[in-house]
Amino acid sequence: MIDRSQPAIEVYNLHRFFGRVRAVDDISFQVYPGQVFGFIGPNGAGKTTTMRILATLDQPSYGNAYVAGFSVVEDPDQVRLRLGFMPDYFNTYPYVNVVEYLDFYARAYGLRGNQRRRAVEFTMHFTGLEPLADKPTRALSKGMKQRLCLGRAMIHDPLVLVLDEPAAGLDPRARIELRQMIRRLAQRGKAVFISSHILTELAEICDAVGVIEAGKLRAQGPVEHIRRQLARGGATVQVELLDQVEQAVRWLEQHPGVSQVERGQQENMLTFQHEGDASERAELLRQMVQAGLPVVGFSAKGHTLEDLFLALTEGNVQ
Ligand SMILES: Nc1ncnc2c1ncn2[C@@H]1O[C@H](COP(=O)(O)OP(=O)(O)OP(=O)(O)O)[C@@H](O)[C@H]1O
Ligand SMILES: [Mg+2]
Repeated sequence: MIDRSQPAIEVYNLHRFFGRVRAVDDISFQVYPGQVFGFIGPNGAGKTTTMRILATLDQPSYGNAYVAGFSVVEDPDQVRLRLGFMPDYFNTYPYVNVVEYLDFYARAYGLRGNQRRRAVEFTMHFTGLEPLADKPTRALSKGMKQRLCLGRAMIHDPLVLVLDEPAAGLDPRARIELRQMIRRLAQRGKAVFISSHILTELAEICDAVGVIEAGKLRAQGPVEHIRRQLARGGATVQVELLDQVEQAVRWLEQHPGVSQVERGQQENMLTFQHEGDASERAELLRQMVQAGLPVVGFSAKGHTLEDLFLALTEGNVQ
């Protein structure tokens, strides 16, 4: 039985330095069984470094991380039994077919006899690889390799799955299928820790996300909270006027909730930031018209998750 009240992954003040590069710089978060936690960040942000430490392939400079209560530093063997890692590369072995590949990893995890047979059968079925059982691993397409790599990570039925950019290079259908597999893993009580550069790619399947840049978590929490955090900025509003643009600018600048009033490229256009929801914007428009401003067009563009990502990360590279 899985105890869902205890975190499956706990990361406390994790640091990893490579010389002067602070690849991971004081990161803390937790993931519970049944949760999918998305780790979003640009190239070089520290995603793989964090994941490798969790998978016991590297050690923190400071801080600690626990998998099912076992420390990656003090109890790496216990961690490995409870964690499956899908790296962002795939090694194939010549002359090894799909079923042999999974069987090899099942043996490596110490599964024997019927237990091993069942683990391989279940994994082949779960990943939809049954029709490819006899296919040499090096002849698999990218999408099928990703499935096999996920299969290898889950062969010992671990509580925690750490997936480093599993969707990279997949076509749209393969992405959808991968998402379904990840959701099913979470439904089975697994804690899934998954990375991507692309926030929208993970938003639908994640219960929570952490946005990492230059080794630091810039934001974390349920996707909706993060969206709301962004929505504090409300929307970017574009207004087209017949004339009286200067008056409109002055009027808007006096208005609460309005900021960054700017003239547009065309002389009768302006844009501004509005804090507030759609009904407050409707009221704002009503007041503009009432104030005698000749509004021809008024359109608001809410911020997307991509805007959030760009707002939270500053494009810092190290
Ligand atoms: N073994 C290493 N030796 C030196 N520097 C390293 C090492 N591993 C990672 N780094 C550096 O640590 C930083 C974080 O790298 P990391 O691979 O964790 O980023 P990432 O978020 O996974 O990026 P990407 O999206 O490109 O995969 C980078 O500046 C990288 O150059
Ligand atoms: Mg990486």
